[in-house]
Amino acid sequence: MKRLRLAVLVSGRGSNLQAILKACKGGQINAEVVVVLSDQENAVALERAKKEGIPSFWVNPAEFSTKKEYEEKLVQVINSFTVDYLLLAGFMRVLSTVFMRGVKVPLLNIHPSLLPAFTGLHAQRQALEYGVRYSGCTVHFVDEGVDTGPIILQAVVPVYPNDTEESLSQRILQEEHRLYPKVVQLLSEGKIRCEGRKVMIIGEGQTSEKICLN
Ligand code: GAR
Repeated sequence: MKRLRLAVLVSGRGSNLQAILKACKGGQINAEVVVVLSDQENAVALERAKKEGIPSFWVNPAEFSTKKEYEEKLVQVINSFTVDYLLLAGFMRVLSTVFMRGVKVPLLNIHPSLLPAFTGLHAQRQALEYGVRYSGCTVHFVDEGVDTGPIILQAVVPVYPNDTEESLSQRILQEEHRLYPKVVQLLSEGKIRCEGRKVMIIGEGQTSEKICLN
């Protein structure tokens, strides 16, 4: 199986990027991050990428008069590297079809809720305010909606009565760091097939609950 070439889009801390880099480096996944792009100049994620010698770029939205032009620039940078998949890892911008058609590779995202619940910003706060007993994270393919694409894997965490946004976010984040590399690993093994909205994990022969709750 060929080594996957990944582009990662970030906006901030980059702990998911770090988890993926660690799994690549440790040989747990047959993939490499070949380029990192950020819409924020001071994203810690850019530092993490630079430390690993990965080409990393801040593409400043303020330098472009329209979203279309901004996205075309992102596409141009990404397409100058050959990539198999594009991962959104805490990238806090909604991308349009200009971007998706431009990059021509599947896009994945990680979101800190059990989708389709609590899309958009502050998913952990939304979960607490709603009063759910369980939350978690979702890795999904990106489509034209906001957090609406086909779900690949989810992981569940309990929500406790005394949870704060911070404590719940931390609990979810631990699962994110396990789940995103796991999905990349499955991709690198060619085990993920998308049929309409349904995502099949080839050869696991398990219910999705068993896959996710181990
Ligand atoms: C993560 O919790 C990720 O799920 C979330 O932002 C955080 C980024 O953390 N993404 C979204 O909310 C996207 N809608 P990180 O920069 O440390 O990986």
